[in-house]
Amino acid sequence: MTAAKHLIALLRSHIAGDDEQFLSVALQVAAKEARQGHGKLAIQLRELVDEARRSKSAISKRPVPLAQPKGDLGALLSASYSDTRLSSMVLPEEIAQRLKRIVLEQRQIHRLREHGLSPRRKILLIGPPGSGKTMTAAALSGELGLPLFTVLFESLITRFMGETAAKLRLVFDAMMTTRGVYFFDEFDAIGARRGERNDVGEIRRVLNSFLQFLENDKSEGLIVAATNHPELLDPALFRRFDDVIQYALPAPEIAARIMQTRLSTFKTPGINWERVAADAEGLSQAEIARAADEAAKRAVLSERKSVTGDDLELAIAERKLSPAS
Ligand SMILES: Nc1ncnc2c1ncn2[C@@H]1O[C@H](COP(=O)(O)OP(=O)(O)O)[C@@H](O)[C@H]1O
Ligand SMILES: [Mg+2]
Repeated sequence: MTAAKHLIALLRSHIAGDDEQFLSVALQVAAKEARQGHGKLAIQLRELVDEARRSKSAISKRPVPLAQPKGDLGALLSASYSDTRLSSMVLPEEIAQRLKRIVLEQRQIHRLREHGLSPRRKILLIGPPGSGKTMTAAALSGELGLPLFTVLFESLITRFMGETAAKLRLVFDAMMTTRGVYFFDEFDAIGARRGERNDVGEIRRVLNSFLQFLENDKSEGLIVAATNHPELLDPALFRRFDDVIQYALPAPEIAARIMQTRLSTFKTPGINWERVAADAEGLSQAEIARAADEAAKRAVLSERKSVTGDDLELAIAERKLSPAS
């Protein structure tokens, strides 16, 4: 076929919405180019076809079309898909291994069940703000291709304990019908905003009610709970989780790697990472990521292609001055 005929075939398959035909014509073009001795062009075409096939199959692997929960449940859960991967997180080896094990066991859930075994599915993340708890929930959802349901505590808590328990029941019932990652984020956030009432007592009651449901839950959902205030939890309750993972402020090597990852599309010649990481001591992962972004913006806006140590140090100093975010 001539180039024009190939183009016509491509357009026809495009109009028909026949992706497979489209890609197969593209492969014919690649073969033709290869025969004519245009090896590089042929390889480029084949790689593009591969890439197109990969991204298509990634999309079709998504389980059910995601419907936002409706009615009462809609006020309690927000649903999303996540593209975050564990590989985009910089983690201490021990935490990385534990998260990989959760993913592995979840992926092999049916195999484990055949042998009467259960995968890890009730996870508690403890750690200071900005240490990656929410990102972890998103990464687990992304790795498993499961929807991420974030439980909105704001609407869960009412002044009446009975109502709160009824709402929790709705959420746990939803887990039985729709497999997903159910993320119970920041129990303590309620406390901060409800200073006027007897918060600790109230939160404790909600938590206990939550833990009761947790204990009785037999669904296939992956339950991830996160808190900045483990002291509110009775240590005995930790046993109801399959895994309790403790996050902390980043060690200097981790801080440096977060900045490097964040700046991977920029040149960073001659940066003394050890010094920059030492400067960033005391900042959370979130603040460090943000400082790296600020440094990148400074470089872009002054039309430089590379980010310098000064950019970073300035951004870090600024982060240290501003209230935690
Ligand atoms: N381990 C990590 N590796 C890379 N970036 C991180 C990491 N932890 C946190 N971040 C960055 O900080 C942001 C906020 O983290 P988040 O998960 O919301 O913290 P938390 O929920 O513990 O308060 C993330 O969106 C990400 O940009
Ligand atoms: Mg969070």
